[in-house]
Amino acid sequence: MSKKKVLVFGSSGMLGSYFCNLLEEKYDEFEVIRNDKADGGVDITQESQVRDAIYDNKVDFVVNCAAYTDVNGAEENPEIAFKVNADAPKYMAQACHHLDIPFIHVSTDYVFGDNREKGYPEDYDEFNPLNAYGVSKLEGEENVLGIKGDNYIFRTSWLFGPGATNFIDKISKYAKELPELKVVTDEVGCPTYVRDLSEGMILALKGEIDPGIYHVSSRDSLSRYEFAKEILRLQGIDTPIKEAKLEDFERKAQVPHISILLNTKLDEARSSTEMLEEYFKVS
Ligand SMILES: NC(=O)c1ccc[n+]([C@@H]2O[C@H](COP(=O)([O-])OP(=O)(O)OC[C@H]3O[C@@H](n4cnc5c(N)ncnc54)[C@H](OP(=O)(O)O)[C@@H]3O)[C@@H](O)[C@H]2O)c1
Repeated sequence: MSKKKVLVFGSSGMLGSYFCNLLEEKYDEFEVIRNDKADGGVDITQESQVRDAIYDNKVDFVVNCAAYTDVNGAEENPEIAFKVNADAPKYMAQACHHLDIPFIHVSTDYVFGDNREKGYPEDYDEFNPLNAYGVSKLEGEENVLGIKGDNYIFRTSWLFGPGATNFIDKISKYAKELPELKVVTDEVGCPTYVRDLSEGMILALKGEIDPGIYHVSSRDSLSRYEFAKEILRLQGIDTPIKEAKLEDFERKAQVPHISILLNTKLDEARSSTEMLEEYFKVS
């Protein structure tokens, strides 16, 4: 049986590289075509380049792991954030619709901003993004859903994975360098390991779930402070952590105090501790 071709935009990013490696190592039925701008791939803000990459490779699926992910940077450079996060997914969805192939896109909890303690189910539609990044990602979702076709959107939050600078690495590094840390108690969210998200996306490739919106994150929510404590505990680091508030730190982009994605459609997710344990085992 011939392999199904999966074109992955953003294949060198934190999610993209993990997703491509996992697919190549564990899912023999798929052939991965990596598209990395820095390595001969296309600039996804160029519509004709996106179209050509999709048409020329005669692919069976397109997966978009590319994004402008600098949340503070998006406040200063909204044009590029909108080109990458809003326009590019539209070009991809249009080309996929034209070829009648599924399109798998990744989005964020930052499309919401209501600090809803109960969390946001997949069909919650009172969007209230608090920063330019969130607005650009919401526009990307709307652009994709505005095109009829087999479109999958996977929202995730506090994503972490190997080979990238993330919250875990920063906390661990500072804990080894400084006598004590200050971490916020009033930013609550759901961490997500790249494997859990990748496996959710692979369900779409395998045709095991219908097109639509999915939420993938840890089943528990916790504050950055609690997450930092767990990060240090699992590594046996005993640097003390002092409680702080978001307002103690200057940052360009506003972020939600409480941002909890509810998964009502997929199997129950792992806990943040289970995800962290795996991260430390493989990193
Ligand atoms: N990280 C998080 O905490 C988080 C949370 C929620 C949702 N998400 C979403 O999860 C997805 C994956 O995020 P990530 O953290 O893996 O992102 P990442 O590590 O920042 O990787 C993004 C990738 O997109 C590529 N890219 C950016 N602009 C491009 C362009 N114009 N043309 C082609 N490629 C371009 C980058 O390539 P270059 O480096 O060469 O520019 C990079 O490989 C994104 O949709 C993001 O919005 C992430």
